[in-house]
Amino acid sequence: SEPLRVGIAGLGTVGAAVARILTNKSNSLLHRCGRPIAITGVSARDRDRDRGVDLSGAEWFDSPVALAKSDKIDVFVELIGGENGAALDGIRAALESGRHVVTANKALLARHGVEMALAAEERGLILNYEAAVAGGVPVIKTMRESLAANDVGRVYGILNGTANYILTRMEQDEISFEECLADAQRLGYAEADPTFDIEGFDTAHKLSILTSLAFGTQVAIDEIYVEGISNISLSDIHAARELGYRIKLLGVAQRTATGIEQRVHPTMVPLGSVIAQVDSVTNAVAIEADTVGSLLLSGPGAGGDATASAVIGDIADIAKSRPGHQEAPVFGRPAEELEPYQRAE
Ligand code: NDP
Ligand code: HSE
Repeated sequence: SEPLRVGIAGLGTVGAAVARILTNKSNSLLHRCGRPIAITGVSARDRDRDRGVDLSGAEWFDSPVALAKSDKIDVFVELIGGENGAALDGIRAALESGRHVVTANKALLARHGVEMALAAEERGLILNYEAAVAGGVPVIKTMRESLAANDVGRVYGILNGTANYILTRMEQDEISFEECLADAQRLGYAEADPTFDIEGFDTAHKLSILTSLAFGTQVAIDEIYVEGISNISLSDIHAARELGYRIKLLGVAQRTATGIEQRVHPTMVPLGSVIAQVDSVTNAVAIEADTVGSLLLSGPGAGGDATASAVIGDIADIAKSRPGHQEAPVFGRPAEELEPYQRAE
């Protein structure tokens, strides 16, 4: 059968891992999807950089927009990052040109997600973004599809691998904040601008997406109270431990009698709690819902391979989709039916 033709924009930590794994696992993906997945186009800034994978069969595009519009691709995979610029231009161009989209870009979705969802849904295109929240943990599909029988009351968790890695290593290895952050950057966990990780903004981006999925509301990134971990010292960590707590950066969204509350801040969690045991780059998302009860999903929240796992799952879903078949709406209900966000008093 016809291959699904994939264009990858961005060949950094995540993009290069996606290209490598798609190439190395082409046979098992063929069996799972019923058709081949072929990388037919790629784009990045530096054409000459070795990406650790043979991309000679794919056409090179200097411009992500040109790749997005190319008739050589069926799916535009955006792994550039940033809420505007090349990433946004590329996704807009892809949807306008009738291409499905896969992205890991939570900053962009937090700002433009509803616009992108409307553009995809009105054209019958798929917009998948599993990797945008909690890296390799399949929380988007769970909330978008598997929890259809539920009204969610609360969703919260550890949503940033870099911050959790820093807090864990500061406590376990007694090393400085700066040294831990440098290691997280070297391991490919941190954002291009790590301020997003340590000041809580990346957690807020992800929380805004989970809030929309949980409560069927417009994405409301500016409504989130945000406080990061840059002021947490080793002595804070020791003091918390002596009192029987561990410090974690949590994102919390809940429905109250007056509206929705969203917040991101360092939180003292009891040492015996499950969330206190979530270490290093691991993320955990707790969902409290009326029909199923309480769920906890956890796993690697950042890093090339773990994130590529989620991106490739999204691509595989598109390979398996049937033309004309109604797909799950981008935010769990049609974008034009998302309710206005109401902040709790
Ligand atoms: P990197 O910085 O490692 O890679 C970014 C890539 O985009 C590079 O290949 C770069 O090219 C390319 N790029 C940048 N600007 C342009 C442009 N104008 N035109 C074409 N290509 C461009 O980022 P990551 O791989 O870490 O992250 C990618 C996305 O995935 C981001 O949205 C991030 O938030 C998200 N994400 C990352 C995770 C992680 O663990 N790293 C986990 C989950 C999501 P070049 O290489 O030539 O410089
Ligand atoms: N910088 C992010 C993190 C990448 O550390 O969690 C995954 O979204």
